[in-house]
Amino acid sequence: MGTMKWILFLAPLASLPTVIAQSSSAQPPKNTITPITDPASFVVPFIGTINGGHVFPGATLPHGMVKAGLDTDAPGNHAGYDGDPKSNATGFSQLHDSGTGGAVPLSNFKLWPFAECSSFDKCPTSLSSRKISRKLLPNGLPDDFASPGYFSTNLSNSIRVELTATRRTALHRYTFPAGTTHPRIAVDITNDGQRSSTNPVMTLDPDTAKVMGGASFAGSFGPGRYSAFTCVTFKGDGFDLGKPTEYGAWLADFPIQGTTNILQLYYGFIDELGALFTFSPAPGGKTTILARVGVSLISSEQACANAEEEIPDFDFERVHTEARAQWNDLLGRAQIDTTGVPKETVQLFYSSLYRTHISPADYTGENPKWNSTEPYYDSFYCNWDTYRTLYPLMSLHDPAVFARIVRAMIDIQKHEGWLPECRGATVMHFIQGGSNGDPIVGEFFVKFREQAAALGVSADDLYNALLADAENEPPNWNLQGRQAGLWKQLGYIPDDMFSPGGANTKQVSRTVEHAFNDFAVAQVAKALGKTDDQKKYLGRAGNFFNVWNPDVSVPGSPEIKGMMQLRFANGTFNFTDPRHCSIHDPAQATCFLNAANRDGFYEGSPIIYSQYVPQDTAKLIELQGGNESFIHRLDFIFEQEYFEATDEPSQQMPFMYHYANRPGLSTQRSRQVIAEFFNTSTNGLPGNDDSGAMASYAAFYLAGLYPLPATEQYLLSSPFFRQISFFNPLFNTTTVIKSNNFVGNPENGTGGQVFVKSVTVNGKPYKSNCYLDWDVFKSGSVVELTLTDDITVTCGNGPNALPPSISTGGYD
Ligand SMILES: *[C@@H]1O[C@H](CO)[C@@H](O)[C@H](O)[C@H]1NC(C)=O
Ligand SMILES: *[C@@H]1O[C@H](CO)[C@@H](O)[C@H](O)[C@H]1NC(C)=O
Ligand SMILES: *[C@@H]1O[C@H](CO)[C@@H](O)[C@H](O)[C@H]1NC(C)=O
Ligand SMILES: *[C@@H]1O[C@H](CO)[C@@H](O)[C@H](O)[C@H]1NC(C)=O
Ligand SMILES: *[C@@H]1O[C@H](CO)[C@@H](O)[C@H](O)[C@H]1NC(C)=O
Ligand SMILES: *[C@@H]1O[C@H](CO)[C@@H](O)[C@H](O)[C@H]1NC(C)=O
Ligand SMILES: *[C@@H]1O[C@H](CO)[C@@H](O)[C@H](O)[C@H]1NC(C)=O
Ligand SMILES: *[C@@H]1O[C@H](CO)[C@@H](O)[C@H](O)[C@H]1NC(C)=O
Ligand SMILES: *[C@@H]1O[C@H](CO)[C@@H](O)[C@H](O)[C@H]1NC(C)=O
Repeated sequence: MGTMKWILFLAPLASLPTVIAQSSSAQPPKNTITPITDPASFVVPFIGTINGGHVFPGATLPHGMVKAGLDTDAPGNHAGYDGDPKSNATGFSQLHDSGTGGAVPLSNFKLWPFAECSSFDKCPTSLSSRKISRKLLPNGLPDDFASPGYFSTNLSNSIRVELTATRRTALHRYTFPAGTTHPRIAVDITNDGQRSSTNPVMTLDPDTAKVMGGASFAGSFGPGRYSAFTCVTFKGDGFDLGKPTEYGAWLADFPIQGTTNILQLYYGFIDELGALFTFSPAPGGKTTILARVGVSLISSEQACANAEEEIPDFDFERVHTEARAQWNDLLGRAQIDTTGVPKETVQLFYSSLYRTHISPADYTGENPKWNSTEPYYDSFYCNWDTYRTLYPLMSLHDPAVFARIVRAMIDIQKHEGWLPECRGATVMHFIQGGSNGDPIVGEFFVKFREQAAALGVSADDLYNALLADAENEPPNWNLQGRQAGLWKQLGYIPDDMFSPGGANTKQVSRTVEHAFNDFAVAQVAKALGKTDDQKKYLGRAGNFFNVWNPDVSVPGSPEIKGMMQLRFANGTFNFTDPRHCSIHDPAQATCFLNAANRDGFYEGSPIIYSQYVPQDTAKLIELQGGNESFIHRLDFIFEQEYFEATDEPSQQMPFMYHYANRPGLSTQRSRQVIAEFFNTSTNGLPGNDDSGAMASYAAFYLAGLYPLPATEQYLLSSPFFRQISFFNPLFNTTTVIKSNNFVGNPENGTGGQVFVKSVTVNGKPYKSNCYLDWDVFKSGSVVELTLTDDITVTCGNGPNALPPSISTGGYD
């Protein structure tokens, strides 16, 4: 049913003939290489599962709501799992996010198997009593395995646990050690990752062992709460499970035999509650029990209905096979030639691509806040993280899902007033930049304006949503929208004026972000032929200049002069040391979210934010004293380690040499970044994956591309593969980027042949060696690169060789 369900979601598109091609693999029209038919086999889900990567390695469909995984007692287990063998297993829960910060999100409804308890009543059901270690492999790592749509582990008590999932239902398979006489399974209703439950409800059926329940839980990065519900049923794998031989509700470490409702227990302040069953073992052999766990944010009845609809047959192999097939269909739209490339690089690419499709999650039908016929997506955690690279990657190969996400975002705006910025489990989270949904819906519309209507996206509604963000100040801009009043009045967010609704922090980063957001509005206005609006918002896209102080320089490096700075409402600047929040900050400040922190910069030093004008880098070059001086500043940023691989405002930094006509330096820097910060180990991420933000920028670097969201341009370097292609199911086109004389992937850029000397598209010389227009991808093209070992290559000589900027003529 999983696959059927998937096709049903696409039903509104069925009128588009090209959509049928979604189920076929990418097949380059020319220059055919042997297609990778099982890209899932190259995915290493454990990348970033220690040291704060917070990656979810469990079982999920692409953008599935259910993410079934192992939870541990690791202190920072934001995705439940931790790859460190020292952290013990505490349960197998159904909902997770991936790569987030905040407080531990989700991890709701853990199941837990017991091989031996001295008796039913003495089963240690509480989180701290039941936890045990996982088995270790000879290399000291835990005996865990994961692949797209599947997760398994062996606990130290020799119980094997396997997980797979459909969109709203998890299927667990517990194999008890031979000879287990009393296989038991506990259902834990209340222990989410934060242990935040209130108002629990739960009933169990003594005949069928069906458990229905739910509770209210805390959001992860904001003040709200959400309710979640579950419905658990069991089945013997290959034998008739019959009735449970013992049953009861439990609180803490006290299972009470014969109870069927937690209201029968006096639970007072105890927040650990659930159900426990003892089953008859399978006749003469190993006992394997399947647990089907439906989840809903509406009711436990709906959780039961979801489970029955999605997994009526309890067929683990079928569900697993269909999940993997969905992943292969999606991942296979990107094809690479693996010849002459280390396997690790291939794994890095497909694993990165995989992680861009975990969030946001498809909660359609599960929004408790309003009824709508539109899709509902959640886990935008946060749009500030993902707008730069995740959605432009989706444009290349997954426009139908992108359209559904955009529809969901617009529907949220219609009901809540502003596009979502940060959100999890239906709860608004704290904004990071403010209204960073703008460049996401802008990205969609700029690239798919002609297909938007057929994809169910209303241009009017999309534009109205953008205008709401740009013009209307929300009552609480900590949670949505932006401080629009002051933005319109002053053209920057001042240091010293408080308007109701939020703490006065991040003024400089919000100023440069809002300038970019307004650029996205201008781009959509242009696409809609709204010339006056285009002009107005293009003007506001230049507001970054209002916080540019030409007189501030880096202490000790007087030539690095001109910085984005805090500015008072009266126009005077308030000095911030450009090293602020960098590793060289004498005050060792951080720039993370902290309401009491008034320092103006978020996840980046003033040095980083002084480069953040993606819409008008040419202007930045001018402000920074011309090409040579700009290149020197970029070199300074890398050589003095101001570049922050783990924070999004830095992501574009390696590619910025393109604008100074030195694309070879971009190629070199981006390769250095991959070599230093990204690998396939559990430690292979420089920080939080941020819902796939890190994954998407790594995937772009490996593809030799870097996007400019809400434009028709992708910056071009050389791929890590002699050939890479993207199949776009909406257009039924494949674009192949092919390097004619590819020699190796030297970590430092030099020593192989990776610098782009010239570019042809469909055999004709292209206008630039530094970027590709969207049209190249849309129509399906063969892009051929001629590579050289000479790092001094340029963008070319023609009038359009340099990538566009507003001040050099704009984005046509
Ligand atoms: C998609 O394009 C391929 C050729 O590249 C063609 O064989 C196929 O029929 C097309 N599919 C649709 C649905 O148009
Ligand atoms: C983890 O579980 C093992 C037994 O499996 C136990 O010895 C160890 O103390 C536990 N560690 C913690 C931190 O609870
Ligand atoms: C667990 O043990 C089983 C054998 O019982 C083995 O097949 C499997 O590979 C082990 N590891 C995992 C992660 O499932
Ligand atoms: C949605 O519709 C259902 C069925 O009519 C109703 O029970 C429910 O209260 C509605 N939910 C909201 C949030 O309006
Ligand atoms: C501008 O405002 C700041 C902060 O209120 C104040 O310290 C400064 O003296 C003012 N400058 C002028 C020129 O008024
Ligand atoms: C100037 O900025 C600093 C932070 O860099 C802040 O602590 C200080 O309060 C600001 N000054 C005024 C007058 O707002
Ligand atoms: C930077 O170099 C480009 C290409 O060589 C040139 O067109 C542009 O004018 C230069 N910019 C500045 C500010 O010197
Ligand atoms: C893998 O990446 C991590 C995180 O960026 C880094 O700390 C580590 O040194 C890298 N390991 C290798 C072997 O390159
Ligand atoms: C990287 O290449 C540059 C030349 O482009 C060279 O100066 C530098 O020493 C190289 N670094 C390493 C670590 O090889």
